[in-house]
Amino acid sequence: MSQATQPKNNELAQAVRHSFTLTDNETGESWELPTLHGSVGPKVIDIRKLYGQTGAFTYDPGFTSTASCSSEITYIDGEAGILLHRGYAIAELAENTDFMDVCYLLLHGELPSPEEKEQFDGDITRHTMLHEQLVRFYSGFVRSAHPMAIMVGVVGALSAFYHDSTDINDPLQRMSAAHRLIAKMPTIGAYAYKYSLGQPFMQPLNDLTYSENLLRLMFGVPTQEYQANPVLARAIDRILILHADHEQNASTSTVRLAGSSDANPFACVAAGIASLWGPAHGGANEAVLNMLEEIGTKERIQKFVKKAQDPDDRFRLMGFGHRVYKNYDPRATVMRETCHEVLKELGIQDPKLDLALELERIALEDPYFVDKKLYPNVDFYSGIILRALGFPTNMFTVLFAIGRTVGWISHWKEMMESSESRIGRPRQLYVGKEERPFTAVAQREHTEKRSGWAWLWGGNRKTTDA
Ligand code: SDX
Repeated sequence: MSQATQPKNNELAQAVRHSFTLTDNETGESWELPTLHGSVGPKVIDIRKLYGQTGAFTYDPGFTSTASCSSEITYIDGEAGILLHRGYAIAELAENTDFMDVCYLLLHGELPSPEEKEQFDGDITRHTMLHEQLVRFYSGFVRSAHPMAIMVGVVGALSAFYHDSTDINDPLQRMSAAHRLIAKMPTIGAYAYKYSLGQPFMQPLNDLTYSENLLRLMFGVPTQEYQANPVLARAIDRILILHADHEQNASTSTVRLAGSSDANPFACVAAGIASLWGPAHGGANEAVLNMLEEIGTKERIQKFVKKAQDPDDRFRLMGFGHRVYKNYDPRATVMRETCHEVLKELGIQDPKLDLALELERIALEDPYFVDKKLYPNVDFYSGIILRALGFPTNMFTVLFAIGRTVGWISHWKEMMESSESRIGRPRQLYVGKEERPFTAVAQREHTEKRSGWAWLWGGNRKTTDA
């Protein structure tokens, strides 16, 4: 279809009429299921009427073959290792834009003009401070609290402070919530780090860029001027770009599902942060460094590469594999280049990088990884860079969350503006007990299996939490 006659994406999805024929071999019945076609990528089978027509559900734990929505924000071709944001290749954006440009692009669909950029950068800059009552939340945490636990709590609490950004039906309030979340995440994350050190919180400065502010909030102290190294600020900016969005990943899908109930955007993003924390997702960057620590030397790599292949061992090579990419994650390529730049600028010879490079070489030559198309993903190198920049391991996923916030809120905004969106309510394949008569307590047999939980609190029925 020529560009001139290319209808809008949603119209395009409806415009082409093909179908799949579904036959129930049990009853011999057949149904025509229409297909929808996007602008690029796999077509979809429209099953919205399937249950009503057939009385059957589809079954897809983990949603390996399920499109949960239509979207114009990000396109991934996992086989080819392609990642586009609003049509722009990630390598182009990482090379030629800054993180604020990418935030504008994801939110508005186009890169900003010079005037739009000046306005947007200014809007974000003027919302980087936290309400003083919100700052007092930090003192309620133990100093050893994981910064992601703090971030979940503080971001969820934002809706208690910004009532003028919680009317989800008001486009202006939706945008002000987006600006506030993007602007405040570095402050929220950096304050969690400062709190763990017992150091005073720094105030963001309006004459610094987003990434310069992040570095100063993290590593500046009130007793002396902090001058961000431009090479390191650029590296942080690029890391945020690489983490900005990634289609319908677990945390973005969490934000969409939470938002489908018309929950406020701050609560939805807090849910996304909680989902990102898992080591199978955004927590992998922290897990990569812990894994490299455990491997220790190049001589021990083979042992762990084999351990990762043991079907009876839950151990996996952290930073390897991806649900969508069956090729090199294009973000990992840029991340590896950034890693070399940062270590060179800092004059660091990090043995963990040498170990990571050797692990990558060995894994990519191992038939198990080759056959299963397991390549390094975005998390494999990011931890090494962040460690070189001085971030503690438990802050790595916080950096991921700071970058991904714009992706979460852009998908939330797209969903709230879509005529297709409705509350997300999946069904299930029920495999539990069918209806059975009630059993009075005197008739219930004592089984070791259930009573085995008595050990849970050391058998002491009197324990209570603090
Ligand atoms: C992110 O979705 C996104 O876009 C996420 C993300 C984003 O930007 O939002 O890209 C960010 O989360 C990157 C992924 C970070 N996680 C890790 O690095 C953790 C290690 N990776 C694995 O846990 C795994 O690869 C996943 C979770 C990333 C993907 O899991 P899938 O898609 O469910 O794949 P799978 O578990 O079905 O794996 C397929 C096979 C399995 O073997 P079989 O059961 O077929 O015999 O590959 C094996 C897996 O055991 N496998 C691995 C492996 N990853 C998959 N074996 C060893 N090491 C690994 N890392």
